[in-house]
Amino acid sequence: MNTERKTEEVANGAVQLAPSILAADFTRLGEQVAQAEQAGADRIHVDVMDGHFVPNISFGAPIIQSLRRVTRLPLETHLMISDPDFFLDEFVEAGSDSFLIHWEGNNNLHRTIQRIKGLGKRVGVVINPATPAVVLEEILLDVDSVLIMTVNPGFGHQHFLRTALPKIRRVRQMIEQTNPDCELELDGGIDAATAPLGVAAGANVLVAGSAIFNDGDGVAAAVNRLRAATKLAVN
Ligand code: DX5
Ligand code: ZN
Repeated sequence: MNTERKTEEVANGAVQLAPSILAADFTRLGEQVAQAEQAGADRIHVDVMDGHFVPNISFGAPIIQSLRRVTRLPLETHLMISDPDFFLDEFVEAGSDSFLIHWEGNNNLHRTIQRIKGLGKRVGVVINPATPAVVLEEILLDVDSVLIMTVNPGFGHQHFLRTALPKIRRVRQMIEQTNPDCELELDGGIDAATAPLGVAAGANVLVAGSAIFNDGDGVAAAVNRLRAATKLAVN
């Protein structure tokens, strides 16, 4: 997809797609990310898990460093780790363009957000399924995005929690009232069936792992299918 067309799509409020490499074939990671980029993906979502904050371990900064060499897409780093502050410099050095930081378990969220901004990177706040929208009230003005988890964090290939839909609608209203440029992103269980529901509720960025990297027709076909599905949203 050429840059001009992409700029036009963003200006028209097109939904952005963020393939999550958690579901990729790691023996062909560079190749699969390049396919996603060519098919028009907007950013690459990198799920970092430490086995403490969530009951799973994934990967760390070296993966970002390798990806930085094979794609020009922004690398979005979803930190599902205890003490995110401790690792920020390392991820910035590796090539992260933005960070998604959980509200849960972070007693110094405002400080973490300011540190990320001080490093010149974009920052979003993430809330888990059981966390109410209201916790965002005092932080919304300070962030570039809100990510609503539509599964419990830690694993790919889970079912989209439809109970998150009223919360997505509520957060969309909050964003319109206080910080209209803030993105509203969803993560977990996004596929061609659930994407239109999330978009209709107000999301404008969708993370998708298995729907993109585990599609038998290949990465490009999967990106196209998901892109088409986002256009089926009925408000
Ligand atoms: C879950 C991760 C997600 C995950 C999504 O903790 O944050 O980004 O990779 O995977 P799918 O799209 O398969 O639900
Ligand atoms: Zn994620």
